[in-house]
Amino acid sequence: MTIKPFRLERYYTLYEFTAKYSLCNSDCEAMSIGDLLALEDGAQEKFNNLWLGYTETKGHPALRRDIAATYEQLSDEDLLVCTGAQEPIFLFSQAMLKAGDEVIVQTPCYQSVQSIPESMGCKVMDWLVKYENGVPTFDLAELEKMITNKTKVIYINTPHNPTGFHFSKEQQKALIEIARRHNIIIFSDEVYRELEHQPVYAISGFGDAYENGVSLGVMSKAYGLPGLRIGWLATKNQEILEKVAMLKEYTTICNSAPSEFLAGVGLRNRQHLLDRNLSIINQNLPLYDAFFEKHADLFSWYKPNAGPIAFVKMNFTTADMAFSQRVLKEAKLLLLPGGIYDYPGFFRIGFGRKAIPEALEVFESFIEKM
Ligand SMILES: Cc1ncc(COP(=O)(O)O)c(C=O)c1O
Repeated sequence: MTIKPFRLERYYTLYEFTAKYSLCNSDCEAMSIGDLLALEDGAQEKFNNLWLGYTETKGHPALRRDIAATYEQLSDEDLLVCTGAQEPIFLFSQAMLKAGDEVIVQTPCYQSVQSIPESMGCKVMDWLVKYENGVPTFDLAELEKMITNKTKVIYINTPHNPTGFHFSKEQQKALIEIARRHNIIIFSDEVYRELEHQPVYAISGFGDAYENGVSLGVMSKAYGLPGLRIGWLATKNQEILEKVAMLKEYTTICNSAPSEFLAGVGLRNRQHLLDRNLSIINQNLPLYDAFFEKHADLFSWYKPNAGPIAFVKMNFTTADMAFSQRVLKEAKLLLLPGGIYDYPGFFRIGFGRKAIPEALEVFESFIEKM
């Protein structure tokens, strides 16, 4: 297999654990195993007695029931539990596409949805963001014009990494109507779902809302448990699940039993995790607001209505890569430059972590010296 290096993951491999401060993480604050187990009576003892044998390829039935509870109509039969969100992106693409197929990708994007189909000889078409008065939008009429009889999958991500865009209910409905008209699968990366800043912004998972919709979920982001490496595909289309499950037998076969157990505890207590993470977000957002208001000559941002990340436009000419390298060198602070997404002139910030106020102070003093 010949595939492009994953620029974002390469960048994090280099700097994530060496930078002293970070303003760019996409996950919410994590927690210890002890704190997670303390959320449920008897969980600690059950965890100690957990059997370390192989688990079911589709995922433990109890865990699938806990995941199904996060959807409106989908049941435990409509789920395949995988390793993180990355494995199901890889497996889905390998299972459902072949050379010569066309896919449309909401762009900029988490690179695997472009690079994996590309590595298989598919034609990858970018459905590119447009900024209108600083607000990211995606033009549905433009999307429909890109569709041909070879288009197999539309890859979307909502809430969106990196722009913070999130589809409204009306836009979701219109997008599904387009896909249905052309008999196209929608692969919807929903790793930031349930982190809407107000309940009114919540939309159904695409796996619930569309018979050929596939929702990608994970414990990593909204729930803040990336170390579990538990993610899933949720769809009513059993053929897709079966094809992906057959490929999974060539990668991880089944999931880690301790992780499955802990993910179940997390999901049964997900409101607690979400409330905690939304409260961190709500504490951090006003700090960013004040910062960007004060430095409006240098930066402008779209404040999202969902998710833990935003994309910041640089109103000066230094290249985003060079700027991020300078911030890292002089302030030991990590930013994620837009160039990593092939979208220069921006950088990504996060606001789901407790350490944001301190990191923002470091950035502020850097800016003042600059
Ligand atoms: C949009 C999106 N999809 C998928 C992933 C991969 O998630 P995981 O690390 O849980 O595999 C990420 C991680 O940053 C992401 O931002």
